[in-house]
Amino acid sequence: MPDLLSLEKRHLWHPFTLMQAWCADEHEPLLLVSGKGCTLTDQHGKEYLDGNSSIWTNIHGHSHPTITAAIHAQLERVSHTSFLGFTHEPAIQLGKQLIDLLPGSALSRVFFSDNGSTAIESAIRMALQFWKQNEHPQRDTILAFDRAYHGDTLGAASVGGIPIFKGSGNDFGYKTLPRINSAAPPLSAASRSSTKSASWSACLPKSHSSLIY
Ligand SMILES: Cc1ncc(COP(=O)(O)O)c(C=O)c1O
Repeated sequence: MPDLLSLEKRHLWHPFTLMQAWCADEHEPLLLVSGKGCTLTDQHGKEYLDGNSSIWTNIHGHSHPTITAAIHAQLERVSHTSFLGFTHEPAIQLGKQLIDLLPGSALSRVFFSDNGSTAIESAIRMALQFWKQNEHPQRDTILAFDRAYHGDTLGAASVGGIPIFKGSGNDFGYKTLPRINSAAPPLSAASRSSTKSASWSACLPKSHSSLIY
């Protein structure tokens, strides 16, 4: 068997990781080999508590029998179908369940995306396209929070507010206002019911006089 960690250091690139330190001879990367519930086990049999649920993606635990059985049953039926020109029952059922979480809301449709970053990018694109198609192409400014994190793809990073994650993702042809102070106290119900918040509106260009949130 090839030396896995040599292959790892030679061929893989890790997000937000100083690769020089990662690849140093004296560094032995943590290689996870299994997980059960909230416990992860490394190459030496040492166990760890998966304290952040694999960055919030595994909230029901590893190797959960119900989830494993559901994935297995789905793979027996069909492995994957595109959503482009087709539909299927699990998507319809999930869409209905999600809409049911929003009783009385004007939101009545679900658009499925792949992950957090592409969800953000889809939302930005929908908003820009909406105004373009409705004769307000000048409404092209995205309001963003400082110290926000929305993912690492170019569009998601462009509305992020943490310099180390933001990189060069702001050169897109649309404008962002990344200086809103997210530490400000939550808006009161009264100010939320108005479409104008004095502090936020002050940050908008003159052509963008109202906010919807
Ligand atoms: C608030 C927030 N938005 C977006 C993302 C990006 O999600 P993904 O890693 O699935 O692209 C994350 C990921 O941690 C997040 O915490």
